[in-house]
Amino acid sequence: MFNILVSDPISDFGLQQLMDAEDVEVTKATGLSEEELVAIIPAYDALLVRSQTKVTRALLEAGVRLQVVGRAGVGVDNIDLDAATSWGIIVVNAPDGNTVTTCEHAFAMMMALARHIPQAYAKTAGGQWDRKAFLGVELRNKTLGVLGLGRIGIEVAKRAAAFGMKVIGYDPFLLEERANKLGIRLTDVDTIVRTADFITVHTPLTEETRHMLAKPQFDVMKRGMRIINCARGGIIDETALLEALDKGILAGAAFDVFEQEPPPPEHPFLNHPQIIVTPHLGASTLEAQENVAIDVSEQVIHILRQEPFKNA
Ligand code: NAD
Ligand code: MLT
Repeated sequence: MFNILVSDPISDFGLQQLMDAEDVEVTKATGLSEEELVAIIPAYDALLVRSQTKVTRALLEAGVRLQVVGRAGVGVDNIDLDAATSWGIIVVNAPDGNTVTTCEHAFAMMMALARHIPQAYAKTAGGQWDRKAFLGVELRNKTLGVLGLGRIGIEVAKRAAAFGMKVIGYDPFLLEERANKLGIRLTDVDTIVRTADFITVHTPLTEETRHMLAKPQFDVMKRGMRIINCARGGIIDETALLEALDKGILAGAAFDVFEQEPPPPEHPFLNHPQIIVTPHLGASTLEAQENVAIDVSEQVIHILRQEPFKNA
């Protein structure tokens, strides 16, 4: 019998195959502290998480039976990969299941920014009929700069083209031929910050991408730029972004992810009139959560049964 601990909210529909398997016992225990997890983890062969559980070295070390950690989503930055490797624990993720959902969230953020929808909603719902305060801009004929043209970045680029936007992008690993086929002109970060009207980031957070947009980029940025981050907090320097807003360089920003999550209540993004925020909702649709739970469950069960599996 394999014991599997699910320590974050993960779609029941996606977990069904595990719950139906005769050789598996699934335990759901969400919202536990690290100490509580460390206390119970020795009984489990697999751990399934989303992003709330921090899979620390201490937790992995205590997992004496642990063979696999499954991440129902893309980013594995909440898992100590070095520690997992040193304990011989396999880490698998679900890289495809939330691509379109996250792309759609980034696109929704871009449209909300262009038309001030959250601010206009708040004012109207508060009883004020103000048609003058919210003059927007069209997406048509604007240039969108996409930093990171992987699964999500490419989906965003396709939708931007359908809206009549010109798409330029930077990704050191995308071949020019593929970009051309997608109608994306590959260029460098400097050209993007100097020429785009909107920038959306879709890279992982790494040594290279941390503060990819910071003071040097804001200093030369095209005035009136709007910026979207539905990837990872820290890719954009939050302090430098606020300065750029204060100087009138930026027209607005939309953030789903933060350097610290959840951001503290006094975080200046939370009540800034030109910043739209959502609480890391990029992957939060019924469809995406079912997809990632199905993908990760399949991989985990194959690993426990020592059957072949795929992981991108
Ligand atoms: P992906 O791996 O398919 O794409 C990432 C791309 O970034 C790759 O093409 C890679 O070549 C590129 N890249 C790496 N370093 C770069 C650099 N220095 N400059 C430019 N490009 C660089 O990943 P994805 O599935 O498209 O996800 C993108 C990001 O979105 C990840 O950070 C992921 O964790 C995040 N994400 C967030 C949510 C959310 O809820 N907000 C949901 C899903 C994914
Ligand atoms: C991801 O990396 O997939 C995202 O952060 C989505 C999530 O699981 O919340």
